[in-house]
Amino acid sequence: MNDLDALVQTAQVDFAQATTPAQLEDAKARYTGKSGRLTELLKGLSALAVDEKKTRGAAINEAKQRIEAALNERRRGLAEAELQAQLKAEALDVTLPGRRRGSAGLHPVSLTLERIEQIFGSMGFDVADGPEIETDWYSFTALNNPENHPARSMQDTFYVDMQDDAGRPLCLRPHTSPMQIRYARQHAARHAATMAVGQPMPEIRVIAPGRTYRVDSDATHSPMFHQCEGLWIGENVSFKDLKVVFTDFFRTFFETRDLELRFRPSFFPFTEPSAEVDIAFASGPLQGRWLEVAGSGQVHPNVVRNFGLDPERYIGFAFGMGPDRLTMLRYGVNDLRLFFDGDLRFLSQFN
Ligand code: PHE
Repeated sequence: MNDLDALVQTAQVDFAQATTPAQLEDAKARYTGKSGRLTELLKGLSALAVDEKKTRGAAINEAKQRIEAALNERRRGLAEAELQAQLKAEALDVTLPGRRRGSAGLHPVSLTLERIEQIFGSMGFDVADGPEIETDWYSFTALNNPENHPARSMQDTFYVDMQDDAGRPLCLRPHTSPMQIRYARQHAARHAATMAVGQPMPEIRVIAPGRTYRVDSDATHSPMFHQCEGLWIGENVSFKDLKVVFTDFFRTFFETRDLELRFRPSFFPFTEPSAEVDIAFASGPLQGRWLEVAGSGQVHPNVVRNFGLDPERYIGFAFGMGPDRLTMLRYGVNDLRLFFDGDLRFLSQFN
């Protein structure tokens, strides 16, 4: 083996030992760099005689080509290895189970609201919606609350740092009862012409579900909660109708005939007489306990007047029930706060 063959061989070994592109470039410099071994050999040519120069020069060039070929082959090898390593690192295991996109569902209280709307809808009730920031007049005054009624106090009602057009305070509505006034006034105005010629106004039959707010927070009270108002006004609507509607509603809602209702005398400024409505199941886990589910009563003449109607002619009842409470009873949930914590482990159980 001549010296050039030996040089090519060391270069090949050298290149093979380089495991990164940077190491390979260092190795390359040892042969073809400025003071590399091939470069030195080429420099040595000048000392030779002319024909020796020719043969030696040709031999060195040939060695140089073989070294460069070895270098390029190693470059390709390292690049290929790098690519393989990268592919391996990014490998997709197509046999792994896919990550499923979570499916959305309705909030349990929304399910109850839909159910309430559907049942009352089937009994001919319209569904109305109204503002959550409400005026003092709609919240209290129009509902026959005396000026100093405790419900107005800041301990019970959230006031908003704004005023209505008349400079009166605005609040977060503490109940859905303002919707009685809003809906009835619109209805009365719409049918004013009919009434003016002595025709009876079409009955008002409406529910108004929505969010309500009170300064209150524990296992059974949340500062934001839901109510569903109901109003039925006509020329001949009585407490008897309220009983029928309610009995029907609760039996349908809880899907049982085994359910009793109790009307317990109570007081609300906007109804007279007033009653708290309790239900009791004749079987099941809640059997035998009276559970309060709504406030109700015959609409007070002063309130009927604020509807823009003649209380001598129009009469009826109103009620306000708690959809949150109904949801708790229906699904056996014992802490109201769970509904509003936003924990998906809890919420996803209802869909
Ligand atoms: N608004 C009453 C409350 O918040 C409920 C109610 C509504 C009572 C309608 C009677 C009639 O508790």
